[in-house]
Amino acid sequence: MRITVYGVKGGIGKSTICLTLGKTLARKGKKVLIIDRDPLGWSSNVIGIKDKGLINSIIDNISANFFKSVKIENGYLDVIKFYGDPSRVFNDSYILTRNREAKKKFEEIYSNILHTNKYDFYIVDNFAMVNYNNDIVFHEREVFYRILPNIESYRIYVSDHSATTLKNTENYIEKIEKSTNIGKPLGLTVNMVPPYPKDLEDIRIEVEKILQRKKLGIGIIIPFIEKLFGFSGTLNELDIPNQIDKLSDNIIKGFLTGYTIT
Ligand SMILES: Nc1ncnc2c1ncn2[C@@H]1O[C@H](COP(=O)(O)OP(=O)(O)OP(=O)(O)O)[C@@H](O)[C@H]1O
Ligand SMILES: [Mg+2]
Repeated sequence: MRITVYGVKGGIGKSTICLTLGKTLARKGKKVLIIDRDPLGWSSNVIGIKDKGLINSIIDNISANFFKSVKIENGYLDVIKFYGDPSRVFNDSYILTRNREAKKKFEEIYSNILHTNKYDFYIVDNFAMVNYNNDIVFHEREVFYRILPNIESYRIYVSDHSATTLKNTENYIEKIEKSTNIGKPLGLTVNMVPPYPKDLEDIRIEVEKILQRKKLGIGIIIPFIEKLFGFSGTLNELDIPNQIDKLSDNIIKGFLTGYTIT
């Protein structure tokens, strides 16, 4: 299964959701690849990839360790880093579109990784507000579906709890879902909700209305968690929110619709 995480804003927890979902699935014996298209390469950083990303290294014509595999109990959490320098993302992915040789090298390396390792889950981290057909996501997606054309594919949207972000997220969901017929919308995560019963309940009601309007199957409401705020530790030290742990159980069982996790 491929799960791609989208959101309209930076700093709302897209990478944290990718990483913690990946970690908890690996703990449960699954083989997981995080495809880190985050311009900052946050998941890559936490897992310990410090070199340039795949695309940066191709453009610079240098070798780099942009892939790392970590064994977690009976599973694996692997990460492939695409970028890692926000100031270069648009330029480098544009070059990749124009430069045949660079594009060929990229396709060779990425398809080789996808061919040699088979994963149970592919989790894709994203730039905020990315358009479905931007160069920065298109190259990755094109190769991915060439190698794995029949994979089940879902999208999870992440928002914070402010009325403005929720509204923008709804518009964004509409835009993304109109621009593709590959895969399905899966759910909406509202992250960093003030951890008080009244706030959590108000958001739950709001989320369920959005699920209905946007035909999403799952709602996930994650409170603000002190220990995650400003997290700068290693994968080992990263706590998994209960809601993400529950989500991973449900995904493994194939429960993909009709509930909200709080
Ligand atoms: N539920 C939470 N409670 C408190 N802090 C959180 C929570 N979720 C994530 N964080 C923290 O918020 C910060 C931003 O999270 P993250 O990097 O995952 O966001 P992002 O949406 O991927 O950002 P970007 O668009 O810049 O890649 C991190 O320090 C992270 O540890
Ligand atoms: Mg991120």
